[in-house]
Amino acid sequence: MTQVALLRVSRVTKRFGGLAALEDVTLNVVAGEIYGLIGPNGAGKTTLFNCLTGLYSLTAGEVTLDGTALRGLKPHQIVKQGFARTFQNIRLFANMTALENVMVGRHPRSSSGLLGAVLRDRATRAEEAAIRDRARELMDYVGLPNKYRTLAGHLAYGDQRRLEIARALATEPKLLALDEPVAGMNPSERRQMGELFQRVREGGVTLLLIEHDVKLVMGLCDRVAVLDYGRKIAEGDAASVQKDAAVIAAYLGVAPT
Ligand SMILES: Nc1ncnc2c1ncn2[C@@H]1O[C@H](COP(=O)(O)OP(=O)(O)OP(=O)(O)O)[C@@H](O)[C@H]1O
Ligand SMILES: [Mg+2]
Repeated sequence: MTQVALLRVSRVTKRFGGLAALEDVTLNVVAGEIYGLIGPNGAGKTTLFNCLTGLYSLTAGEVTLDGTALRGLKPHQIVKQGFARTFQNIRLFANMTALENVMVGRHPRSSSGLLGAVLRDRATRAEEAAIRDRARELMDYVGLPNKYRTLAGHLAYGDQRRLEIARALATEPKLLALDEPVAGMNPSERRQMGELFQRVREGGVTLLLIEHDVKLVMGLCDRVAVLDYGRKIAEGDAASVQKDAAVIAAYLGVAPT
């Protein structure tokens, strides 16, 4: 069986003035896998996410999702193509309830549009109710039942990370990119998040995961790429990447076992 690349990243370069934050990065994420992206601080991981999701323009290179070229599209257009993400620095509407935050994620998929929202006709009200129901389901799914009415800014840090995932899932992505989703969590919370990622994948969503927790990455990811100074220095299954001498020198800083 041939493996279908859902995301193709071809020779992507991003320069900020004289600094090449990404240099000629090529990688493919296969539908159905959990693909890990690791590398030291400043390696270019978040910059790659920003390039893929339309926040940064590419200096060079091409990106396609399911055959559609993403280069030049605006962030919301990329979301509509089925590519959702979370942020390293959590970006929620702190003064809205948790449920409203998830409902916002759902809106790019709603059909009633501005006129419907103004007129609030029956079809619009039915759609709002469906959005609300789905948002509740997603909050339950990520482990936030009974937090619907809590202001997002009042949620515990780990719960804010879960809420970001629920909001991203509300856009019905094919591909979900997570930027350090377990940062600041304790080991048992991390394990729970790992289980959530497995469930998300089993639900048919492909995952691209930036993470410093090497144990989590190695336990969860089918394949891992390593960035260092903006270049991909290794790629492969967890075991082979962990043994790669360049990776150990650049990142792990430990002798291979
Ligand atoms: N908007 C920007 N303008 C200028 N330089 C930037 C910008 N964004 C990122 N950089 C630089 O690009 C490089 C890569 O940064 P990036 O945030 O992508 O690293 P990272 O791998 O995500 O690191 P971390 O693990 O610390 O999150 C860094 O040298 C950073 O200073
Ligand atoms: Mg980063």
